[in-house]
Amino acid sequence: MTDKLSKKNLSWTELGFNYIRTDFRYSAIYENGEWNQGSLIEDDQILIHEGAPTLHYAQQCFEGMKALTTASGDVCLFRPSLNWERMNSTAPRLLMPAVPRELFLGAIEETVRANYPWIPPYGSGAALYVRPMLIGVGENLGLKPAEKYEFRVFVSPVGPYYKDSGMAMISLAVSEFDRAAPNGTGKYKAGANYAGGLLATLNAQGIGANEALYLDSANNKFIDEAGSANIVVFTKDEKFITPSSDAILPSITRRSIMELAEIELNLMTEERPIDLRSEFQNFSEMAACGTAAVLAPVGKIWFDEKWHAMPGNENSDGSVMKKLYELLVGIQRGEIEDKYGWLHSINLGL
Ligand code: PLP
Ligand code: COI
Repeated sequence: MTDKLSKKNLSWTELGFNYIRTDFRYSAIYENGEWNQGSLIEDDQILIHEGAPTLHYAQQCFEGMKALTTASGDVCLFRPSLNWERMNSTAPRLLMPAVPRELFLGAIEETVRANYPWIPPYGSGAALYVRPMLIGVGENLGLKPAEKYEFRVFVSPVGPYYKDSGMAMISLAVSEFDRAAPNGTGKYKAGANYAGGLLATLNAQGIGANEALYLDSANNKFIDEAGSANIVVFTKDEKFITPSSDAILPSITRRSIMELAEIELNLMTEERPIDLRSEFQNFSEMAACGTAAVLAPVGKIWFDEKWHAMPGNENSDGSVMKKLYELLVGIQRGEIEDKYGWLHSINLGL
């Protein structure tokens, strides 16, 4: 029996964004038109049929969120209902069954609670990353949806996505590849979108960038998003803008940051197409935002065969992105009042 109150002896402040095996995960099965109740299990392997549609036709989707220990010692998720809504917007697009809210949130809460020793302590800068996933399993060969599905939730303690701690400064390289077609699956969290992006990321890293930046595939002009995060820009004429595009993942972090920019910083916000080449000279600051990325300022972008520096990010202490980062992370850590009701506290049953 694990001592529920004792934490694992990890170097919490040194964690990267890597898989660390925890004790429990949750698994539920959908068969004959209904979900079973599911349960916590210890086995980190999934045994599935070699013909399973998730393996051949990428009939699969996932979500990502973090559980953080707050200043008062609570363990909180950040707006998990929005992850549930997004999974249930992705699932029907891939002909997969909806995951009921009680199953989605219940499985996450149980998995976090059961892995209490793995939840990074307050002040460590680390979090417990939660990965819910839905996969089409069972025997199959032809191109058709599965008849059986597994909904699984696993967790892993993680540190910052881009660097050792705090607010990382990153660089992006415009990709020669398209991420998603205008009427494709870009706005869904389908694993297939990411498989196509692996080479784009590798190529971006090959020229010294952290991540690929995608422009819209119809015109190769307007900013879509980065490989694992949405984009926000603060312009020289003091507008806080973000791309409107049907091909990008509707980021929960971005929606929160847009609200903070408008309400807390009184900035004029706009969601509209952003033409990278013609508008770049009006950019002051840019950042990539997402659960893993949090809010990472972009120091420079590679496009048209050269690096373009972002002027406003040079003095990052007084930057708008820094203020927004502090507001967002302050709320998530329970250091700033959660007046928006974004935190979802988990009953740890201790
Ligand atoms: N865009 C992509 C492609 C992502 O993978 C993610 C990560 O989930 C995001 C954006 C950010 O979304 P969120 O803020 O909901 O994590
Ligand atoms: C997340 O931010 O949760 C993601 O899913 C991005 C992933 C590529 C690490």
